Amino acid sequence: MSNYNIKHIEEYYQLYRKSVNEPELFWEEIAEEHFLWQKKWDKVLSWDFRKPEIKWFEGAKLNITENCLDRHLINKGDKTAILFEPNNPTEEAVHITYNELHERVCKMANVLKDRGLNKGDRVCLYLPMIPELVISMLACARIGVVHSVVFAGFSSLALATRINDSECKMVVTSDGSYRGSKTIDLKGIVDVALKECSCVKDVLVVNRVGSEIKMIPGRDHWLEPLMSKASSVCTAEIMDAEDPLFILYTSGSTGKPKGMLHTIAGYMVYVAYTFKNVFQYKENDIYWCSADIGWITGHSYITYGPLANGATSVLFEGVPSYPGYGRFWEVIQKHKVTQFYTAPTAIRALAREDVSYVEKYDLSSLKVLGTVGEPINEEAWHWYDDCIGKNKSPIVDTFFQTETGGIMLTPIPYITPTKPTYATLPFIGVQPALMDEKGNELIGNQVEGRLCIKYPWPSIARTIWGDHERYKATYFSAFDNKYFTGDGALRDEVGYYRITGRVDDVIIVSGHNLGTAPIEDVINEHPDVAESAIVGYPHHIKGNALYSYITLKSINRDQNIVRKEINQLITERIGPISKLEKIQFTNGLPKTRSGKIMRRILRKIAHNESNDLGDISTLLNPEVVEDIIGNKLV
Ligand code: WT7
Repeated sequence: MSNYNIKHIEEYYQLYRKSVNEPELFWEEIAEEHFLWQKKWDKVLSWDFRKPEIKWFEGAKLNITENCLDRHLINKGDKTAILFEPNNPTEEAVHITYNELHERVCKMANVLKDRGLNKGDRVCLYLPMIPELVISMLACARIGVVHSVVFAGFSSLALATRINDSECKMVVTSDGSYRGSKTIDLKGIVDVALKECSCVKDVLVVNRVGSEIKMIPGRDHWLEPLMSKASSVCTAEIMDAEDPLFILYTSGSTGKPKGMLHTIAGYMVYVAYTFKNVFQYKENDIYWCSADIGWITGHSYITYGPLANGATSVLFEGVPSYPGYGRFWEVIQKHKVTQFYTAPTAIRALAREDVSYVEKYDLSSLKVLGTVGEPINEEAWHWYDDCIGKNKSPIVDTFFQTETGGIMLTPIPYITPTKPTYATLPFIGVQPALMDEKGNELIGNQVEGRLCIKYPWPSIARTIWGDHERYKATYFSAFDNKYFTGDGALRDEVGYYRITGRVDDVIIVSGHNLGTAPIEDVINEHPDVAESAIVGYPHHIKGNALYSYITLKSINRDQNIVRKEINQLITERIGPISKLEKIQFTNGLPKTRSGKIMRRILRKIAHNESNDLGDISTLLNPEVVEDIIGNKLV
C-alpha cells in the first residue's frame, strides 16, 4: 500500500527516497491505488531528455472526467464540487454538487458533439471565472477534445494569435464579464478576434451579464437553449494515457506565445497527488484558490487537482478590491474557507491597506495559506503569516510553472518547517539540480545556480504545440540531459531552496552578477515602499547600473530622504555594489494580467527606448506606462 497522505517529516523523507530510487514503482503504486483506469499501462515511464520525449503510463486507457466526477457519485454525489462566489456580493453564491456537475458536463459534451467536434479537435475557452468555464473544460475532456483556455483579460489580438496557433474550431465565451465595478464586453472582443480566425466555425455564448450583443446567424449560438435540449447521458471517450488534455499558452522571453501541451494520465496523477499533500486536504475542507483558471494554477489547483480528490473548490469571479479591500477576507469568513491560495502581488496590494479591512472578519477557519507565481518578499510573507494566518496557518510557498503542470518545490504544511521566502524542499518525485554557468552541477548545500530538474515527473509538458524544436531549444538545450526552468535558485545550509528570480533578469554591474529579486526584496523592506522593480541600463564606467522604479505607500515624506534611506538599507543588507544609481518613484508598475511586473517595458524606458515598447495593450494597467515615461530620470 502506498501512502497517499504524508503525515510526518520522516514519512516525507522516506517517500522522497523511494520516489528517487524507484520512481517507476513509486508512481505505479500511486496511480494504481488512487485512480480509475479502463486499462492499466504496459510501461510506467519511457524518457529521453535529449530528444526530448517523455511518456508516462503508456498503454493505459482512461478518461480524466471519470476520475474527477463519475467515481465520486456513489459516495459524494450531493457534496459541493464547485462553490461559485459571484463578483457582486449581493448575488447569491451557488453550490454545484458532484451530481449536478456531472450532469452539466455530460450535457455540454453532447452539445459539443452535436456541433461536430471530434476527439483531438481544439476548442478555445475565453470565459470569465464562472461555472461554465469548469464545465466546458471537463466537457472537452469527456469527449477527447483538447481545450485551450485563454485568460479573459487578453486583448482580441492576443486571443486571435492563440486561436490560430492551435487552429481551434470553436470558441466558448460569454456575452460579457464582471470585473469589480466594470462590465467587459467579452463577445465584442471575440468578434474582433474572429475576423482574423478562419478556423473557427462555431461560437457558443453563455448569458452572464444579459447585455445586448450581436449574434452572427449560423456561427453564434446561445449555450443555454442547446444545453436544455441535450441529453444528460454521455459515455466518456476512452483515451490513451498520452493523448493531449489541454494546451495552455505562456509567454516566452521573445517571439510568439508557447502553447504548452499537457497529456492526460501523468498530469492527472501528479496534480491530484500534489493537491492532496500540499494543501493537506481533508474531506470536509473548503479549499479556495483565487488564481484565474486562465493560468496553470487554476487548471491544476481549481479544476483538476481538487475534483480528482472529490474536494470542494471555491470559484471566485471577483477581484480583491471590490466592493472593498476586505473582499477576500469576507469570502473566507462567509464560506469558512480552510485553505487559501493566492499570489504575492495580491498580498502586497492588500497589505498596503488598513488592517481594519482584515480585522472585521473571522478568519479562524483557515488551516493552510499558500502563495504562487513569483518570489514572495519577507515583508509580505510576515504580513500574510501575522495578519491572515495569525501565526497558526503554515504558509506554503509553492514554486511551479505552466511547463511543469504541478507544484515542484513546496513545504508540506504542518510537516516541513517553513522559512520566509523559501519554497523549501522538492515535492516527492522531483529531482532538482543547481547548475553553474559552465554546466556543472553544484553539489552540497549553500550553493546558488540555475535551477534544473534531472528526472521526469508525471506532469511535465510534453511539447510546445506545433513546435517541438522550440520545446527542445527552450528547456533541454541549456544543460545536457536536464530540464531547465529559466530560474535561479539557492540551496541553504539545510538544503532548502529559494527561488532568486528569472536568470534573464540578472544584471551585471561592474562585473558583479546581481539578481534583481534579492535587491527588490531589500527595497521592499523599507517601511514606505509598496513595490519595486529594478532593471539594468548602460553605464559608462560600470557597464551596467541599476535603475529602479519604486511605488511608495504614501508620499508625504521628502523623497530625497527616502532615496537615501533605501540605498543605505541596500548597502547594509547586500553591499554598496548593489546600490541604486537611479530611483524613480512611480504611481504603479506595468504588470501582466497575471500580476507579473513587465521588466521588459521598464528596461526599454531606462534604455531611452520608450518609442519602441511594442504592444502594451495586454497589460493590466497600461496607463502607468505614460506616467513612467514622463517622469523618467536623466
Ligand atoms: C514562473 C512560472 C506557477 C503558477 C503561475 C506562474 C515564477 C512561480 C514561484 C514561487 C518564486 C515563482 C518562476 C517561474 N514562480 N512560483 N513560489 N517563487 N517564483 O506560472 O506563468 O508559467 O510562471 O513563475 O519564475 O519560472 P508561469
